[in-house]
Amino acid sequence: MNYRHAYHAGNFADILKHWILLRLLDRLTAKAKPFFVLDSHAGGGFYDLAREATIRTGEAARGIARLLPHAAGAPESLRPYLEVIATLNADEPALRWYPGSPYLTATHLRECDRLIACDLQSGEGAVLRETLKPFPRAKAHMGDGYAAVPSMLPPPERRGLTLIDPPFERRDDYDRMARATKIGVTQFATGLFALWYPIKDRARAVRFLDALPRPAGGLAAIDFAIDHPTAEGGLKACGLALLNPPFGLVDEIAESLPWLVEHLREGEGATAHIDWISRPE
Ligand SMILES: C[S@@+](CC[C@H](N)C(=O)[O-])C[C@H]1O[C@@H](n2cnc3c(N)ncnc32)[C@H](O)[C@@H]1O
Repeated sequence: MNYRHAYHAGNFADILKHWILLRLLDRLTAKAKPFFVLDSHAGGGFYDLAREATIRTGEAARGIARLLPHAAGAPESLRPYLEVIATLNADEPALRWYPGSPYLTATHLRECDRLIACDLQSGEGAVLRETLKPFPRAKAHMGDGYAAVPSMLPPPERRGLTLIDPPFERRDDYDRMARATKIGVTQFATGLFALWYPIKDRARAVRFLDALPRPAGGLAAIDFAIDHPTAEGGLKACGLALLNPPFGLVDEIAESLPWLVEHLREGEGATAHIDWISRPE
């Protein structure tokens, strides 16, 4: 496995995923009851966009760097995400620091909440451990994130979120993610699940969504494209499936997506929408 998230940190896919992650955490922290987050494919958790890896791909330059100058006009829903990035970079002359999913979650944990963040690669895992050191309620777990889903769910808190965000270097990542989610929902029917996937071929994405379970709280999927998806070359479109999304979140996302498309578009194929695959019962 060669995947290094540093090449992609702050790109359009991260923006979508991290914006929604913060909205889910906001709903979880709105109630006093403790919650648990399982981040099955966590990465190092914190990125220096001034490093060569990120500069070379230019993904952050075409992603978060294009968005921040327009933050003042952003929809309400996106503001907390943009504020986090602006605050992290407040002392920098230019955009430099970008948070990954485990860092974003760790900074939202209260004393009663927990995060377990998994990574299989020892290099990424070591960085993740360092990233999470200041957060006593967050633990790095060196191991297979797909296996963590059946072994760690349901959590004793009986409230929580599972984020599954594989690198998709393997052909079977769609199938592995669908299988893990089926077990996850069987064991933790009321849990929130957020599943990120690339869209290179829309028919493949539809087959993936067909394979997902239909929990009572509904299944919704975001399709976000900065241009027409292509099978070869750089990623132009991605999806995020939300199982048991909190009440009102799907409408909130639908209202905010046009702004994201407008500011991140790279071609005529730019488009975004969120659809219910199965509505809440
Ligand atoms: C897309 S990156 C994660 C990015 C992160 N979720 C974020 O939003 O900041 C995917 C990560 O999964 C790790 N990985 C790959 N296969 C894995 C597996 N089976 N279990 C756990 N981690 C895995 C890779 O090392 C990589 O760091």
